[in-house]
Amino acid sequence: MEKLKQIYEGKAKKLYETKDADQLIQEFKDDATAFDATKRGTILNKGVINNKLSEKIFTMLEKEGVPTHFVKRMNDRDMLVKKVRIIPVEVTIRNIVAGGMAKLLGLEEGIILKEPVLEYHYKEDKLHDPLINDYHIKALDIATDKELEAIKKYSFKINDLLRKFFDSKGLMLVDFKLEFGRHKGKVILADEISPDTCRLWDKKTKEKLDKDRFRRDLGNVEEAYQEVLRRVME
Ligand code: TMP
Ligand code: ASP
Repeated sequence: MEKLKQIYEGKAKKLYETKDADQLIQEFKDDATAFDATKRGTILNKGVINNKLSEKIFTMLEKEGVPTHFVKRMNDRDMLVKKVRIIPVEVTIRNIVAGGMAKLLGLEEGIILKEPVLEYHYKEDKLHDPLINDYHIKALDIATDKELEAIKKYSFKINDLLRKFFDSKGLMLVDFKLEFGRHKGKVILADEISPDTCRLWDKKTKEKLDKDRFRRDLGNVEEAYQEVLRRVME
């Protein structure tokens, strides 16, 4: 399958049409942004690493009954995916307080939550991806009741599966972000799952092995991504 016209360029990925109207090529870039793209940089080989990690995780999720847009990994940076219409909601699940939740509620990072917290953020950088709830989503027709039920059910199931998966690799899944799309009348998981979209801490040392190293200028950014890939591929 070849890349035809580029139809989208986001902060971390590009999308191309293919000769199959139902399939796109998702290309993973090394570009990294934070704080609504006010901070910009590159993380060497991030695209290659995130492509491989996403392949591994989407494959595991599909096996466990979660529908995803993943078709196959084509090469280092390209992944063949089903064409979806993205629902403009970022779904965040949190197991441990960090980042946005610590800031919002004045909490310390590292508090283990009694149960997972699900948040919706409206996907609009200009508005800084504002926190919204089920009522906003339904009242503004962002998604239907039925779609939202599916999104919630899959998100918690993905949390259970990912926690187990990363735990077996010596990593704590602090929180992560998902995006869903519409495909042939169904809601399926889209986008990517990688250290760009998950907070992952080493189980023993609590060392951060994710994009927070870039966001917070902690150094050893590439090394952290490489380390996650190494553990996941073991
Ligand atoms: P937050 O604590 O900044 O809200 O982030 C929660 C999780 O979502 C974290 O694992 C990083 C991920 N995330 C994204 O994937 N994209 C984003 O634009 C932001 C802000 C967070
Ligand atoms: N990717 C997001 C941005 O640039 C933020 C983040 O991941 O922290 O704005």
